[in-house]
Amino acid sequence: MRGEIMSEVVSYNREGNIGVITVNYPPVNALGQAVRSGLLAALEQGQKDTEARALLLVCEGRTFIAGADIREFGKPMQEPTLPTLVNTFENSDKPLVAAIHGTALGGGLETALSCHYRVAISSAKVGLPEVKLGLLPGAGGTQRLPRLTGARKALEMITTGEFVGAKDALALGILDAVEEGDDIRAVGMAYAQKVVDEGKPVRRVRDITDKIEADKGSDVFDQFRDELKKRARGLFSPFKCVDAVEAAFNLPFDEGMKRERELFMECMESPQRAGLIHSFFGEREVSKVKGLSKDTPVRDVKSVGIIGAGTMGGGIAMNFVNVGIPVTIVEVKQEALDKGLAIIRRNYENSAKKGKLTQEQVEQRMALITPSLTYDDFRDVDLVIEAVFENMAIKKEIFAKLDEVCKPGAILASNTSTLDIDEIASATKRPEDVVGMHFFSPANVMKLLENVRGSKTSDEVKATVMAVAKKIKKVGVMVGNCYGFVGNRMLHKRGTEAMSLVDEGATPQQVDKVLTDLGFPMGQFAMSDLAGIDVGYRIREERRKAGEDIPASWMDKLAEQGRLGQKTQAGVYKYEEGSRKPIPDPEVEQLIEQFRKEQGITPREITNQEILERCVYVMINEGAKILEEGIADRPLDIDIVWIYGYGFPAYRGGPMFWADQEGLDTILSAVKKYQDTVGGEQWEPAALLEKLVAEGRKFADL
Ligand code: 3HC
Repeated sequence: MRGEIMSEVVSYNREGNIGVITVNYPPVNALGQAVRSGLLAALEQGQKDTEARALLLVCEGRTFIAGADIREFGKPMQEPTLPTLVNTFENSDKPLVAAIHGTALGGGLETALSCHYRVAISSAKVGLPEVKLGLLPGAGGTQRLPRLTGARKALEMITTGEFVGAKDALALGILDAVEEGDDIRAVGMAYAQKVVDEGKPVRRVRDITDKIEADKGSDVFDQFRDELKKRARGLFSPFKCVDAVEAAFNLPFDEGMKRERELFMECMESPQRAGLIHSFFGEREVSKVKGLSKDTPVRDVKSVGIIGAGTMGGGIAMNFVNVGIPVTIVEVKQEALDKGLAIIRRNYENSAKKGKLTQEQVEQRMALITPSLTYDDFRDVDLVIEAVFENMAIKKEIFAKLDEVCKPGAILASNTSTLDIDEIASATKRPEDVVGMHFFSPANVMKLLENVRGSKTSDEVKATVMAVAKKIKKVGVMVGNCYGFVGNRMLHKRGTEAMSLVDEGATPQQVDKVLTDLGFPMGQFAMSDLAGIDVGYRIREERRKAGEDIPASWMDKLAEQGRLGQKTQAGVYKYEEGSRKPIPDPEVEQLIEQFRKEQGITPREITNQEILERCVYVMINEGAKILEEGIADRPLDIDIVWIYGYGFPAYRGGPMFWADQEGLDTILSAVKKYQDTVGGEQWEPAALLEKLVAEGRKFADL
């Protein structure tokens, strides 16, 4: 029988005695309205087809259904809804087989769970990642999954959103069979034929009750709620996920489905859902850089040179080695090289201890690193990343040497976090090949890569560093050249305000608490201790030398006393041996009091609201200036820098998205108030902010 088109995106045809329903909706076969209605029509066709003894659901393209169509969220729901679809599928009186390749996620896995049998190829993965979007599985996932896996595993999968590989999913009872190979249609057909030949019955997950009976009344739900208080601090939907799964154990199936729906709608209406979905699309949008296209040529990066084997250089090297790219690390002294390599080895050995790597993999990775004391070994590399400390003169010297040694076409990158890329490039005769690649500490962990274009950087080089980000599994954001680029330029404004707030009467812990209450994993001062108090001190000193008017600070005194942060077990806070937990230190309180006396400051009571406004609104005002100057192309570029580089809570969507929710008029009037009371260029209102408020528009409208 010829393929019959049920809709643009779903077709039905029969092969022998199997009715085949095929979804073809690139890129990921998401369950948009057309797919949902197409699936229902195809199912009806299959039911009516008297020759069809079993039905097979299979997808074209790179993956099985990857979930509901996220682009439809926030708009009025169109019929047929997903719960109607899955219930109709489950009620089919012909056996239904789902054949899974790629990823069966969210509504996709829920559709598969409404089929009576599930077969996958071994590379497939399944998961219910709704929680990462601030939601819970809203089409029976919380009711059907625990019927197959029991409570604990279902809670783990649903509250973390992590994917499970096909073989593990088979062991957990989510799948019925896993086959090798990549021809999913053939695998699905063979399984469906077996169902027919063996006369396998319609088997509905809703009717499987043994695991429900076994876990009824278990304390696992309360245990999970306790765990989540730590793991999911500030988040809304993980707790709702637990409530929904618990309903599968306390209520009959249909009532459980109703409860799931109510909880799903609560999540859908929460601002966290909007923030997380903005982050999801933002993470993907940032790869589309203004002025570049899919046709922009990209250079091959098959080997990398790194200058500096310190914490940064070592972390950067690991990113490349992890994806099989060989790295040559150059240091000035053998001792520094040995120390750097020993740290990399220790990191890998620790992963091996945790079972994340085998010893063989550790050795393979170490073998990809060539230590060296001479730049001559950079002769053949495709990309060099300089990761020495922030000093313009040294960087220029290094780039002049690189220009002499490196082959034509090699990309010369600096990991500078603040300095002028054009000035660095001016030390070479090839400024078009010079670019910033700003990694975030710890560089092997943090997902952000802030790529900085100089005024002469070529499009090819820009496209290549964006491709490199993807290759090493980072989120690359392209930004323009200015002091501190996007991230640190905004951070330094926040830092200055935070220091002044303490001058004026706040405690460091009060400032930090306001930031962690907003959802940051750590506050400004705990972060300074982690990065090293000397880092900020050195930057301030450099700027003072350059003639800038940077006022004295109590934090300079900490650095001068050798309180450099976690690494000396004392900074703004003190630390117990082996612990990273910041403990307020009376000695620092005294130092601050002394500083206030010296400066003639009478401390005053500072409210949490003032701290929030001065630390975060100042960033937004700066963000608006960054947009105005074209340093960031879009507000979402700033949002993604802050989410992945500094831990701005993804559920608030990043600073610019959050600013829209706060109200730009509220922010502008606070900025004007601080312009009068605090003063300084950071409180001069951004022209863009004034314009948007005057026009009644938001950052999202840009
Ligand atoms: N809806 C709409 N578009 C989607 C989508 C979805 N569910 N999932 C991915 N896309 C889009 C992406 O935005 C991207 O678009 P672009 O090319 O225009 O930027 C494109 O598909 C490809 O996505 P990726 O770049 O992420 O491709 P990868 O191959 O790296 O990853 C993926 C594929 C693993 C499927 C990944 O996209 C992903 O994790 N998607 C989200 C899956 C998800 O969260 N599903 C649950 C949805 S909520 C739900 O189902 C509710 C239900 O319970 C009621």
